[in-house]
Amino acid sequence: MSSITLTNITKYYGDVQVIQTFSEVFSDKEFITLLGPSGCGKTTMLRMIAGFERPTTGEIKIDDKIVSGLDVFVPPNLRNIGMVFQSYAVWPHMNVFNNVAYPLKIQKVAKSEITTRVENILEAVHLSPYISRMPNELSGGQQQRVALARALVSNPRVLLLDEPLSNLDAKLRETMRYEIKDIQKKFGITVVYVTHDQTEAIEMSDRVIVFNRGIVQQVDTPLNIYSHPANEFVADFIGKVSFVHGRASDGYIALDDGQKISCNGRKTGDVIAAVRPESVTVF
Ligand SMILES: Nc1ncnc2c1ncn2[C@@H]1O[C@H](COP(=O)(O)OP(=O)(O)OP(=O)(O)O)[C@@H](O)[C@H]1O
Ligand SMILES: [Mg+2]
Repeated sequence: MSSITLTNITKYYGDVQVIQTFSEVFSDKEFITLLGPSGCGKTTMLRMIAGFERPTTGEIKIDDKIVSGLDVFVPPNLRNIGMVFQSYAVWPHMNVFNNVAYPLKIQKVAKSEITTRVENILEAVHLSPYISRMPNELSGGQQQRVALARALVSNPRVLLLDEPLSNLDAKLRETMRYEIKDIQKKFGITVVYVTHDQTEAIEMSDRVIVFNRGIVQQVDTPLNIYSHPANEFVADFIGKVSFVHGRASDGYIALDDGQKISCNGRKTGDVIAAVRPESVTVF
């Protein structure tokens, strides 16, 4: 079990509200993606779940345990969460083994167990041959996997990933998407993933949360986000779209130039219709 329950969360920095009231339950083993443009509050949300920031109001539960509330605050190291930060940092002076072993050494795990666990996790992220390498002898993608292995080695209940693939080239990004999904299935963990890349969000997620300026626009499956966007922002942010303005009545939209197009909606009056390219046939 590793569900995350967010209830009436808000976050202010001084007078500025960066997260508007937000409530949602992330299920056990769910892959949730926070998607939105730069500055919309994705990292802030992730840092509150991890315990690096305290929400201004609201409560966060992991399973049945309150980790952040009115008079409760569990620090990050006691939340059993693995996190890979936006600018992932592997320690340059430690080889791969020691980078990954570090969280276990802090927890004073026995030496022999550390060796077994590090070896197992490196195998899972396909890094076994690199166990003795220093970070500057690894490619960006390999360093990324070291950061991932270090986040996973403590058997976290929840894995938080903040734009983990943003520094990689397009081809490697694609490979890593599959590897992350693979790891999630293998370890059966709940993942909260942050990106501003719509393709990543659509390919990897069970559900996507679309943010804009700290306000949640839609929480839904990738298919519904694409096919039934909640508003213009969501329709525009995910996939290609054209907007047409007109007046709706009786299953039609009358356009300004007098032409009519059919529509399913029940709305009447001034409307905006979102049209996806695949729904247009050209003669
Ligand atoms: N410590 C802080 N003090 C004041 N304002 C902050 C602080 N941290 C973040 N902010 C502001 O909060 C807003 C949300 O920031 P956040 O880092 O969550 O955005 P983001 O969605 O992760 O963006 P990006 O995609 O660029 O990483 C931004 O306007 C940012 O300037
Ligand atoms: Mg961010």
